[in-house]
Amino acid sequence: MSIEIDILNGDESWPMAEPLFNAVWPPELVKTLPWADIVFAHAELRVLVQNEADDVVCHVGIYRREVKWNGRKMRAGGIGGVLTRKDSRRKGYASVALNAAIQTLKDEGSTDFALLFCEPHNAPFYMGRGFKPFDGEIWCEQPQGRVRFEAIAPYVHELRRAPLRGTIDLGGLPW
Ligand SMILES: CC(C)(COP(=O)(O)OP(=O)(O)OC[C@H]1O[C@@H](n2cnc3c(N)ncnc32)[C@H](O)[C@@H]1OP(=O)(O)O)[C@@H](O)C(=O)NCCC(=O)NCCS
Repeated sequence: MSIEIDILNGDESWPMAEPLFNAVWPPELVKTLPWADIVFAHAELRVLVQNEADDVVCHVGIYRREVKWNGRKMRAGGIGGVLTRKDSRRKGYASVALNAAIQTLKDEGSTDFALLFCEPHNAPFYMGRGFKPFDGEIWCEQPQGRVRFEAIAPYVHELRRAPLRGTIDLGGLPW
């Protein structure tokens, strides 16, 4: 079976990705998740995997952000919205899409580390793909102001240099 992988502008490709989000994260399920009440940023780029029927079966969002680690500027490459349609899992699609996202950030040359947030049951998947737990505090913006982000745990992937402890201020909405 052949698949197609594209990396597209985040806003323009949202209509292609939206049916997958609705299938994997319908509102009634999202309500039960630890991040239900969080306001998230929109992806700047999207890695989309399409099957032979041209259905989008896997998605990874990419976010670029100047963050502050212990008050010092660093460039983080956010990874978010990693999802594969239920009938298309365990075929390596998320791994391929994640690799494409990391490669994109690497190719840009200026990103210090990739940063994602995940629930405990997904941590082994990311740790098997080069991510390490960030054992510190994350702060971000929400509509009510600057808040500590604790709903889901942070994991980092070194590109040039990655902090493993301390405080990261996302300087905007989380992803
Ligand atoms: C987490 C998620 C994105 C993984 O997607 P996926 O496309 O199934 O991921 P992959 O196929 O790349 O890898 C999944 C597992 O299948 C295995 N796998 C990959 N190809 C395989 C194949 N051909 N045959 C059997 N197993 C395979 C991988 O090794 C991996 O197992 P491992 O982590 O023990 O190594 C998917 O389960 C999902 O959408 N979950 C719901 C949404 C969610 O929670 N997203 C994460 C938000 S942080």
